[in-house]
Amino acid sequence: MTTTDVLLAGARAALAGAGVPSPDADAVELLSYVLGVDHGEVRMRGILRTAVVERDVARFEDLVDERAARVPLQHLTGRAHFRHLTLGVGPGVFVPRPETELTAGHAVDAARAAGPAPVVVDLCTGSGAIALAVADEVRDARVHAVELSPDAHGWARRNVDRLGLPVDLRLGDATTAFDDLEGAVDVVVSNPPYIPDGAVPVDPEVRDHDPALALYGRSADGLAVPLAVAARAAVLLRAGGVLVMEHADEQGGSLPGALRATGEWHDVVDHRDLAGRPRTTVAVRAPRG
Ligand SMILES: C[S@@+](CC[C@H](N)C(=O)[O-])C[C@H]1O[C@@H](n2cnc3c(N)ncnc32)[C@H](O)[C@@H]1O
Repeated sequence: MTTTDVLLAGARAALAGAGVPSPDADAVELLSYVLGVDHGEVRMRGILRTAVVERDVARFEDLVDERAARVPLQHLTGRAHFRHLTLGVGPGVFVPRPETELTAGHAVDAARAAGPAPVVVDLCTGSGAIALAVADEVRDARVHAVELSPDAHGWARRNVDRLGLPVDLRLGDATTAFDDLEGAVDVVVSNPPYIPDGAVPVDPEVRDHDPALALYGRSADGLAVPLAVAARAAVLLRAGGVLVMEHADEQGGSLPGALRATGEWHDVVDHRDLAGRPRTTVAVRAPRG
């Protein structure tokens, strides 16, 4: 028998030594996963020095070793917390990021402002994170989502089925999807692949585990895919409908600028994330000429 506070202290040290960016949070999440209890209980058990059986200790220590080898935390637990939901994730699908919770929040706000039964489309849905968050938080929304990768689509399918939220999920290309919804959509939200080609991510969790299709924007500035997705959004949205699009730190000027240059958008505003970095562009569909 050993105690959770001893386990957490050892795990924190091992993860910090391996360069894991958030050793405390990761140690707590892994122990929470192994013990089947929530984070608060893990920390409280630490204070109370609750004993943990050897079987759980061995499992926890194996997971800490894998995390120290920079396997993504969410691949070890098979889960990712996103707004009010817990999503299933693993190899083959992009792990939803905390900053995307703000992008989803902009979509929730735009959907609520659109009036009753808003039509919302998530282009490039991955695990289904944004679409499911909107369906969860805007209960009368009619939410549609599309994903190109069959593997990622499989994860999204399982998440939609398990959470039981009403999302019309399709397998296909976001740049041509939803010909049945052209001009009828209130909100398009997208976290497309946007990393500039050649800008290989430093973090091993991203570089070695997130699918390339989810990362790279297919041009030197990373904007080829985002702008193709935005062009599709311009077709799908009604006049006055809202586009919400996540982007890379360095695209806080170029993405809004490129959208303005099309003449298809007005009130183009860029928003920062909680770290103060440019992260999400919101734009309103102009009336068609
Ligand atoms: C950065 S990930 C975002 C996933 C999810 N929206 C999220 O925020 O966690 C981009 C996703 O777009 C998908 N994708 C890339 N090109 C696509 C396309 N042309 N049509 C649909 N999905 C695409 C990738 O497979 C990946 O799942």
